[in-house]
Amino acid sequence: MWFTGGRVKSPGWKPGIGASVRHTRTYLRTTVTENKNFFLRNVWYYAMPGGQLKPGNAIAKTFLGEPVLLARSRNGKVFALRDICPHRGIPLSCGRFDGQEVECCYHGWRFDETGRCTAIPSLVEDQNLDFSRFRVKQYPVREVQGNIWIYMAANDKADTPSPEMDIPLIPNFGDQPYKLVVTSRFPCFVDHAVVGLMDPTHSPYVHNAWWWRATPSLVEEVKIFDPSPYGFTMRRHKIVNVPRLYSILGGEPETEIIFSLPSVRIENLTAGHHQVSNLTAVTPISETETEVTTLLYWDMPLLTALKPVLQPLVRAFLNQDGDVVIKQQEGLKYNPTLMLIKDADTQARWYYQLKAEFARAMEEGRPFINPVKEQVLRWRC
Ligand SMILES: [Fe+2]
Repeated sequence: MWFTGGRVKSPGWKPGIGASVRHTRTYLRTTVTENKNFFLRNVWYYAMPGGQLKPGNAIAKTFLGEPVLLARSRNGKVFALRDICPHRGIPLSCGRFDGQEVECCYHGWRFDETGRCTAIPSLVEDQNLDFSRFRVKQYPVREVQGNIWIYMAANDKADTPSPEMDIPLIPNFGDQPYKLVVTSRFPCFVDHAVVGLMDPTHSPYVHNAWWWRATPSLVEEVKIFDPSPYGFTMRRHKIVNVPRLYSILGGEPETEIIFSLPSVRIENLTAGHHQVSNLTAVTPISETETEVTTLLYWDMPLLTALKPVLQPLVRAFLNQDGDVVIKQQEGLKYNPTLMLIKDADTQARWYYQLKAEFARAMEEGRPFINPVKEQVLRWRC
């Protein structure tokens, strides 16, 4: 079967990577003075919904600026190879995948799922070339709860995933896959997408839709935060200003929101006996492009029946975030110094601190120390 996926095209216009964020004493009383734009490595990134990669198919994608060929063999196993033939550098995705091995379109070199070369058709009988030592880089991948994750190591020698930094799971769903998925591309550096999605005070301005906001006026919110593995958790609480869409769940909705590195947000909402969870994962494609995937898990048959209505609403919600990022890029071209104010931007500040600490700990070969402490945050939204 020929490859089904298209190669990722760079956007027609060239937005700036965006200004780095400076934490100044005026706003947050912190000693961190700048955060350079960099991709976090030695972590698992969301690669794609598993259901979109059928057995015998392969899809070309870019992660952190690296071309990757994701493939699912006929027996269902997912694997990932660097999408470049080591012979002449042509993308392997220009060739074909027979459900077991990848064949380069240029000279027919073949590679198995580990990236090992298995055939060079041009060799004649007495040319005893040990081609099995020719390899394409293989990326560790895992399929969990319907999702494919890829491990992006700092270098080729460190491509064994750390067992401590595991893939985040939705509780109580076992290995059930998602019920609904929406993917969007934001034309920005990953940090702007992450900070935008965890920002608690943009909702009245960006998500001002009748089906989302119950009241037009701003109300004060008080939330308790705790450190959690490689991130922080907004402690479980009753939702005061219940979004209209949540009324279909019945009961009094409660929620907790967990953020973990590199860029995964999980909201676990319970109402009555039911649970609805939202996993939003942010994956850097390049320095100017970021993929955002929102997945919903639920245990209510009613929501499954309402899926044709919910899907466009989730898409509209994500597009609202994407549209504001496109506008933001217009300003970031001029490299302005940005601000983080308390308490509305404290989560964004934690994100930058977590990311910097993880990178430093990796560099120094020491354990990660979570910089987040238990804290009460207040804002109006
Ligand atoms: Fe948003």
